[in-house]
Amino acid sequence: MEQGEMAEHGGRRPRLVLTASPLQGHMTPMLHLATFLHSKGFSITIAHSELNRPDPSNHPAFTFLPLLDHLSVTPGFANAVQFLQALNDNCRQHFQEHLVQIINAQKDASQKESIVIIYDNLMYFAGSVAGDLGLPSIILRTSSASTFPAIKIIPQLHQEGRLPVQDSMLQEIVSELHPLRYKDLPFISLPIQQTLELVNMIMPKTPPSAYMWNTLEFLEPSALTQIRNNYHVPIFTVGPLHKISPTPSSTSFLKEDSSCISWLDKQASKSVMYVSLGSLAKADDKVITEMAWGLANSNQPFLWVVRPASIKGFEWIEFLPEGLVTEMKERGLIVKWAPQKEVLAHFAIGGFWSHCGWNSTLESLSEGVPMLCHPFDADQKVNSRYLSDVWKMGFEIVVERGEIEGAIRRLLVSKEGEEMKQRALEIQEKVKVGVCHGGSSHNSLKELVDFILSL
Ligand code: UDX
Repeated sequence: MEQGEMAEHGGRRPRLVLTASPLQGHMTPMLHLATFLHSKGFSITIAHSELNRPDPSNHPAFTFLPLLDHLSVTPGFANAVQFLQALNDNCRQHFQEHLVQIINAQKDASQKESIVIIYDNLMYFAGSVAGDLGLPSIILRTSSASTFPAIKIIPQLHQEGRLPVQDSMLQEIVSELHPLRYKDLPFISLPIQQTLELVNMIMPKTPPSAYMWNTLEFLEPSALTQIRNNYHVPIFTVGPLHKISPTPSSTSFLKEDSSCISWLDKQASKSVMYVSLGSLAKADDKVITEMAWGLANSNQPFLWVVRPASIKGFEWIEFLPEGLVTEMKERGLIVKWAPQKEVLAHFAIGGFWSHCGWNSTLESLSEGVPMLCHPFDADQKVNSRYLSDVWKMGFEIVVERGEIEGAIRRLLVSKEGEEMKQRALEIQEKVKVGVCHGGSSHNSLKELVDFILSL
């Protein structure tokens, strides 16, 4: 923040306590937001669980507050309810004690520091503690805005008898959520009581002072209008946060294998299919085997991230036949974790086969890379539908070897694929405009800073 700007606000420097969730796709945008806000003159504390803790050495200017969570593994979607309950129950007390300590220590101080809590919606204990202590709070939502109405409507659909959904209705559009179909609704593959419990947990109980979405206005105008009509607090659209953070440092829990960049350097422009299913999805060995055959038979170069322990019952890809692995190595590279943003920005990348997590989606459209959509659950099905039906820069893949070969060629070397690439490039241009001076996200971040200073 400029000196003048600080003076305008009486030189007050609120301490921002950002409460980050232990999931990679949530931690990364929170740390990028923190870096941005620090560059605007705010003191930053990152409250985080001990599970998947961020590396403080990558962020020397921040204070870190580890919260005792007593958790040892990140769950799959099926165990999300128990995981979130334990995470929130375990972290709450320590978080509250810490804030009380800061507040009490300030009682006699001549220059008091105000505190604003910014929290990931999965860390809802932070909102409740903020409410108890009378502190303002802002929720950062790290998934698409379109996911929010799709989650919010679930209890209503259940009450009206529209959920659990009949198989015959899966392809039907949910009239309130056009163009989403019943099959695109988050978490409906879980037993209905679990879905309802999860929805109840992640919808805010303590009204926040404002919301922030890691998105851009032009991407999801109707969802944002719906949200603004329902919530009469400021809604800031601050994405994509990885393009806004002034000096992005590593936020990865896993070590990135940068050798793939020199391999990409040797490939032809826009020829490589990049494949990654994010940090949480678990596939079974049959799915991975089909993916491997499809990639091997596609005759296109590929870079495939297979995360350790992401295949149910296996360490890595030891179950794939040796002959197939040898065949794949002729034109592809398999790594355990990649520097994804750098990969997507590389000239050699022609397409991204993705689970459509929101970060991966934003990173792909920020680089103008068209996508093959392979959603698992949560917001991924919503994002996949938007990619194929609204932004028209990708399509959903059928994970069967013969289909995969065709889909890769359709995306990388067909006329239709060329059109998707063009649309992806148009979206990339709009993203650039959005984050530049005077663009919607740039303006929204400015309004966010002013709003925080006004609290
Ligand atoms: C989770 C949910 O699955 C997702 O749907 C939600 O939107 C956010 O939380 P995740 O599955 O990890 O996230 O997906 P995604 O949001 O795409 O985040 C993955 C992150 O890991 C991205 O920032 C990506 O760049 C990074 N990544 C992935 C790497 O850095 N290297 C890799 O090899 C793979």
